Parts: sequence; structure tokens; C-alpha cells
Amino acid sequence: MPTRVIIDTDPGVDDALAILLALRSPELEVVAITTVCGNVPVEQATRNVFRVLSLVRPPASLLIGQGASRPLLRPLETATHFHGTDGLGELDRLRNADGSPRYQQPTLPRILPTAQDVWNECLRRYPRELTLITLGPLTNLASALAMDTSPVRKLRAVISMGGALAVPGNVTPAAEFNIYADPHAAERVAQSGLPLTLIPLDVGTQVALTRDAIRRLTAETTDPVTRFLGDATAIALAFAEKTEGAAVFPLHDPLAVAVAIDPTLVKLAPLHVEVDTEGPTTRGKTVADPRSGGSRKSSPNLQAAVQVDGARALALVQDRLCRR
Ligand code: RIB
Ligand code: CA
Repeated sequence: MPTRVIIDTDPGVDDALAILLALRSPELEVVAITTVCGNVPVEQATRNVFRVLSLVRPPASLLIGQGASRPLLRPLETATHFHGTDGLGELDRLRNADGSPRYQQPTLPRILPTAQDVWNECLRRYPRELTLITLGPLTNLASALAMDTSPVRKLRAVISMGGALAVPGNVTPAAEFNIYADPHAAERVAQSGLPLTLIPLDVGTQVALTRDAIRRLTAETTDPVTRFLGDATAIALAFAEKTEGAAVFPLHDPLAVAVAIDPTLVKLAPLHVEVDTEGPTTRGKTVADPRSGGSRKSSPNLQAAVQVDGARALALVQDRLCRR
């Protein structure tokens, strides 16, 4: 029986790869995809979901909803410097041999339900069966929690890509992007009591593809998903090379999906985590309390992935996304 999942996402190149991984994995049944502002404004995130879905044949029953257009309290800060202004690596720059656009503009339905409406419908259909995988800021989940009778309490599990526990952040020295973008949402989710598994930078940075590996995996392919992997990562690889000195693309969001596919890929530790929401230099920091026993401030409020079998995780992603 496949695991039924909802994916909440801010595509984003790695989000796009995570969505494609989920749709190409028989272990998962993607019942809904909802969007949230983050890497790009939410309207662009929604366009990008439809553009990515045009590469595959998604389930006819797949529900799509649009979520928050801004964080709970912070102004929106995007990551288009890394993901491209379109959020998918500037796909419109690419042409086929005959000069036609390699990627068509998506056609969206005239009316889209909200993320909350989609979640409520899914939880009505599948109470206590659904795993919510969040790949962007936690604004939609925090907003749902604000309603006392929110159906999100019927989620079976929540797997969230986010945070940096024992490693530096990727936006500031303290903070990872998804948490930094909406720290108030992340703190509300961390203290909510939901069955939360965090997939932080600590493990995500160990699952990455170099430019050379991507070139090898995508050379001569006729598979649209494999070609997308090569096309969509070029801008991010150039940015990483310029800023980090190495053309490496981290698979943060695909790893969160991979953990839903195969939980044995990571080692989890119960931790009490709080999110700094106001610090001028530490806003968005996920502060874990590793102390045990009496000295510990509070009991654990989540499970965090503290180790990953990086080789096995990368092999799973490559096996599902890369075809000749
Ligand atoms: O820090 C990495 C996370 O922030 C990923 O989800 C990426 O897509 C961005 O949203
Ligand atoms: Ca993301």
C-alpha cells in the first residue's frame, strides 16, 4: 500500500526535482500539491507546479491548491538569485533545435482552490493516513494550526525540509532558508505537537550532484525529466560555483521525499527545537537542546535526521529521475 502524501512546496528547482521524484516513486501516492511563497512569489510557485507536471502524466485525481502569498509576519524574501527569476532555472532561455521553446508556458485552471481547502478535502478523504511533506516555508501549516479545529491534527506525519542544527545556515550563518523566510511559522509548527520529522541542512548538504555528474547523467537523454534536471540546475550551479567555489547542487527537497519513500535512509534523534524569531543576526536559527535528563529544558518536540546514508539517498534519486 503506497504512502499517501501531500506536498507543500515553493518551486524552486530542488522542489521541482522532489515533486518529480515523488511522482516517479511507486512507494508514494501524491494526492495533492499545494504552493507557498518562498523561493518565488506564490503565483510563480503555482505556475511552476503546472510547468513541472507537464513533463509527466500526473494522476488525474491530483489536487492542486495555492497557499500563502506572504509569511505570517515577515516580508517575503525570495531566493531567485539561486533558482532563477522564474524559480526553475530560467527555462524560457532554452530552445529546441528548430528554435521552438523547449518548455511550454503552463496552462492553469481559471480558478484554483486554496491550499487549506485542498488539505481539508484530503484529510476528509484520508483521516490519519496522510503524510504532509513540506519543502518550503511553513506558512501554510502554521496558518492551518491557527484554527483550533484544524483538520491538520489528523495528519499521520509531517516531514519538513528545514533548519540547520549543527551546521551553518545557508541564508545567514545561523539560518536555513525555509525557516528564515518565515520563522514565526516554523516556531508555531515546532511547538504544535504534530508528529514532525525535520530534514535539516545537516543531512541535505550530504546529498548533492556536481555539474560533472549531472552532465554524465543527462547526456544524450530523450527523457523529459532527465533533460529538465540538466536544464533547470545550470543557473544554480553557476551561482554555487561563484559563491561557494564549487558547482554542486544540493538535493535538500528530494531528500525529504526520499525519506518518505525509505525512512531507513536517515538516522533520527528526538530533540527539543526552538526557532529564534527576532534575533537581528540569529533570526531563523533552529536551536536544538541536545541535553538529556534533568538539565534539559523541555521534552523533545520533533525527530530530526542527524545522519544520512548519502550514497543510498543519491542512488535512489538518480535511479528515479535519470533515464536514457
Ligand atoms: O534551504 C533549502 C530550502 O530552501 C529548499 O527547500 C529550497 O528549495 C529552498 O526553499
Ligand atoms: Ca523548497
